[in-house]
Amino acid sequence: MSKKIPVGILGATGMVGQRYISLLEGHPWFEVKYLAASPRSAGKSYAEALGGRWQMSLPLSADVAGMKVSDASDLDAALAAKKAGNCEFVFSAVDLDKAGIIALEDAYAKAGFPVVSNNSAHRWTADVPMLIPEINHAHVDVIPAQRKARGWDSGFIVVKPNCSIQSYMLPVHALMAAGYEVKTLFITTLQAVSGAGYPGVASLDVVDNIVQLPGEEDKSEKEPLKILGSLKDGKFENLAGMRITAHCNRVAVTDGHTACVSLGFGDKKPSLDEVKRIWKAYRGVPQELALPFAPVSPIIVHDDADRPQPRKDRDLDKAMAVSVGRLRSCPVLDIRFTGLHHNTVRGAAGGGILNAELLKAKGYIG
Ligand SMILES: NC(=O)c1ccc[n+]([C@@H]2O[C@H](COP(=O)([O-])OP(=O)(O)OC[C@H]3O[C@@H](n4cnc5c(N)ncnc54)[C@H](OP(=O)(O)O)[C@@H]3O)[C@@H](O)[C@H]2O)c1
Repeated sequence: MSKKIPVGILGATGMVGQRYISLLEGHPWFEVKYLAASPRSAGKSYAEALGGRWQMSLPLSADVAGMKVSDASDLDAALAAKKAGNCEFVFSAVDLDKAGIIALEDAYAKAGFPVVSNNSAHRWTADVPMLIPEINHAHVDVIPAQRKARGWDSGFIVVKPNCSIQSYMLPVHALMAAGYEVKTLFITTLQAVSGAGYPGVASLDVVDNIVQLPGEEDKSEKEPLKILGSLKDGKFENLAGMRITAHCNRVAVTDGHTACVSLGFGDKKPSLDEVKRIWKAYRGVPQELALPFAPVSPIIVHDDADRPQPRKDRDLDKAMAVSVGRLRSCPVLDIRFTGLHHNTVRGAAGGGILNAELLKAKGYIG
């Protein structure tokens, strides 16, 4: 068997970083060999740096527990790891301000590391693709132009979108790819507490309560337009003609973001049976390429009137499938449904791994 590609995780001690470590255990292509976090964790073993913060259900392996954590801003340490064959590219999931993340990710890309980012900082950078591989795998074709414009050789940056949008993006794209224009989306999200990192929201704020998330609404309304847009002459053009309105809320669920969606079509409107048929048949490039983290069926359609539910459905197909249910006609728009995905897997680390697998399959990594 060929050697696995050694990867680093920036923000390894956080909620998303922990999920990367847990999901990459036994990955057929990638192997975690380099860990970095804040200066508070630097120099400690991973177990010491965590100090009891491990939130995953899989136990932490002894190998990873004993690995030394570096300071993410210490590029010399990352370059030494690269030279030693321990870090060919990085997953980035750090809690820093926008300028800090941009400086950090640019420095890694300039130093020759592909950066597969979970952070929002670069999502609207003109030459950085915001990827959901089933939808806009072709947006990675901007990478040569990104490298050329910045004078980077082997390094580059790709990002994944906000976790709030994943429950409706695949269902919406499936309908559009089948020839039905989607004109209007009215969305209410019910987002899990793990989406706020660790320790995240105080229990006294969220137990017996619902917390409004105004900061998520803009992302939920705008990011779909870049993802569904096109790449022309090295530039992204946002999708025109789709109007989205979102209300985002934090609820006392550990993992699994739900979205209640009403959707309006253009002139051509599918029947409910046709919508179901399209969702069940939906496949994308990750499935065609049989990428290790690609769910066999990206959209799982539930017929029971009380599904999807976070605890019962978030882990379906490696926790990478989006569950949809409660499909019915809408008296205001055309159809309505409930979507659900695992926010720290499909919506964060699993989505990042799928991006990296796509990049490897297209020859940008490895
Ligand atoms: N949680 C989700 O579902 C989710 C989904 C999509 C995207 N994201 C994004 O992913 C990123 C991380 O989120 P999270 O939920 O994992 O947050 P988190 O649990 O708060 O973890 C934050 C991580 O950032 C590190 N960090 C903090 N200050 C740093 C610094 N000055 N330099 C380098 N590293 C630093 C922390 O290291 P120490 O332990 O050393 O402090 C920790 O590893 C955020 O940008 C978030 O918006 C999260």
